Amino acid sequence: MNLAIDRERLVSEIEALGRISEAEPPVVTRIVFTQADRRARAWIIAKCKEAGLEVRTDAVGNMFARWHGSDPAAPAVGTGSHIDAIPNAGKYDGVVGVLGGLEAIRALKEAGFPPKRPIELLIFTSEEPTRFGVGCLGSRMLSGTLSAEAAAKLRDANGESLDEVRCRAGFDGELRNVKLAPGHYHAFVELHIEQGPLLEREKIPLGIVERIAAPASADMILEGAGGHAGGVLMPDRKDALCAAAELVLEVERAARSTGAADTVATVGICEVFPGAVNSIPSRVRLSLDVRDTDLARRDGVMGDIARACEAIAQKRDVSIRTELLNADAPADCAPEVVQALTVSCRKHKLSHIPMVSRAYHDSLFVSRIAPTGMLFIPCLQGYSHRPDEYAAPDDIERGALVLAETLAKLAS
Ligand code: GLV
Ligand code: MN
Ligand code: MN
Repeated sequence: MNLAIDRERLVSEIEALGRISEAEPPVVTRIVFTQADRRARAWIIAKCKEAGLEVRTDAVGNMFARWHGSDPAAPAVGTGSHIDAIPNAGKYDGVVGVLGGLEAIRALKEAGFPPKRPIELLIFTSEEPTRFGVGCLGSRMLSGTLSAEAAAKLRDANGESLDEVRCRAGFDGELRNVKLAPGHYHAFVELHIEQGPLLEREKIPLGIVERIAAPASADMILEGAGGHAGGVLMPDRKDALCAAAELVLEVERAARSTGAADTVATVGICEVFPGAVNSIPSRVRLSLDVRDTDLARRDGVMGDIARACEAIAQKRDVSIRTELLNADAPADCAPEVVQALTVSCRKHKLSHIPMVSRAYHDSLFVSRIAPTGMLFIPCLQGYSHRPDEYAAPDDIERGALVLAETLAKLAS
């Protein structure tokens, strides 16, 4: 089989999708179910149909573009990623896996490859947690990790439920039908930028992921007492933001204290109420994001943070409430998919290293229902979740080529 990736087509599609944004290019902001997200979805569906794929969309907006195999009843081989983007993001996160997956399928078709098993491109809904607070919404639901009842109750910052928002965006089927039947996938592979600096630093073009770290996230709500910034004397204050400042540093300390490179913790949101120059903050909401490849160590850090909350609350006479949003287990990639990726890299004489994914991906949840693997390509200085995120055309092409080869192997 003479497999050839059309690099110009793929790169120009990544550029074109990057221009469908709520922000001025090169900034990509594409929050789930906004106009930009819906325009991007329509654009992708048209590309999939042009490639001769049959497109189905489920009630939460996961999109499946299928190439029927000679045995249409066989479990499919899946590939794909997400097209939603956090505020102020770049154009490669998720998109390389979606458009790279589409290009891999087109390359296989153009090479005359006859799949036995169907090959299905997935575009997952809301891998990013921006709108509903929980990441990997679509893959959590299709894997049965998040129930339809729990999902329907999720609310965005305007207080609108997922149910209202998705119906208004045109996805009005039954949420309970999102969960896939057991055995739907024979295997799943996701191509993604590394979102870290290791491949670039080592000058290695490909990383074969062996383990995906365990993410946990929570809201921490601190309540103190407000008042006049001039009138309330310092000894009488219960300033929620001062307590939050201590807590942010405790989060950092807890993550550093494990001494493990794989432990990371971030406070990315700090909302201050009432948010006036001359008013003592009475309430603060902090977001908490903790990850580790080792579940017990991750939970140990969560425990340290809970104890820090108690100590700070007592010391400063404020209340601190933690609302856990998710606490997921890590995943091991499937040896058969790792093997298929390795054989494909060798066939094309491409050097590669085993890697851990410290970012989470839809693959974390697909791995609960199917043998799953991931392929990483380098990105400039490891930048991601920022507008200057960049992956070089050569690397994107190599990723799509190895993905195509791997899909062929798994679908035969
Ligand atoms: C995914 O975007 C993550 O935050 O790991
Ligand atoms: Mn992301
Ligand atoms: Mn991503």
